[in-house]
Amino acid sequence: MQKKKTVLDFQKMKAEGEKIAVLTSYDFPMTGLIDGAGIDMILVGDSLGVVVAGHDNTLPVTMEDMIYHTKAVMRARPNAFVVADMPFLSYQTDLTSARLNAGLLVKDGGAAAVKIEGGVNAAAAIAAITEMDIPVMGHIGLTPQSLHRMGGYKVQGKGDAQAEKLLEDARAVERAGAFAVVLEGIPMGLAARITEELTIPTIGIGAGPHCDGQVLVIHDILGLCSKYSPKFVKRYAELAPIIAEACANYIADVKGGTFPEERHCFK
Ligand code: KIV
Repeated sequence: MQKKKTVLDFQKMKAEGEKIAVLTSYDFPMTGLIDGAGIDMILVGDSLGVVVAGHDNTLPVTMEDMIYHTKAVMRARPNAFVVADMPFLSYQTDLTSARLNAGLLVKDGGAAAVKIEGGVNAAAAIAAITEMDIPVMGHIGLTPQSLHRMGGYKVQGKGDAQAEKLLEDARAVERAGAFAVVLEGIPMGLAARITEELTIPTIGIGAGPHCDGQVLVIHDILGLCSKYSPKFVKRYAELAPIIAEACANYIADVKGGTFPEERHCFK
């Protein structure tokens, strides 16, 4: 049986060169499946705003949404280490709100840690939350909550000046006390440099193979969101047509009177 993962495991995994496997999850049944497969860390990402709630981006996601989904994930009692995303406006305005909202994700949601987007600009919030003994995972590079500043979901850290800025962001996140950092949408060479320089683990998404771990959105790897698949996603299943076919068969059975059969009925 898999042992419950703690924040201490990830430092050890980096030191020993064992890659860290991370997936997002947002509900009870999927968490049971992902955890049973042996995932190291589960991220209750604010990507739920897009893949579950159908928003165009993650900006509308609320603390209520995050607590609701984190609770559902925790009811599966995963052995994986669970990190909850801090949604837009839950940590940017002032440090008191940042502390309170991080605390709510742990106290009400049941998460073991929180994730914050931003580098130098998020360092004060990361430090304030880690001072409360809540582990924080940083997130730099392509940060989806900064969609409008970036002018779209564009690869970050291209060219010397941008790369230097991202290195500064990575250092600031580590100095502020984060236990790990997500590197999203950056050139693989830069991700390798950051991974080598930092003592905390880097978790890549669209950042190449040299990170200490990888994270992907569960709906993306299972082929549940057919409208858009980024270049960095590997699909491990194509579930959308399977689900559509199952539903079409059910509808045909109901309309044709072939469901329910005798074995589905009470006498
Ligand atoms: O919200 C999310 O799921 C994320 C990951 C994709 C890193 O931030």
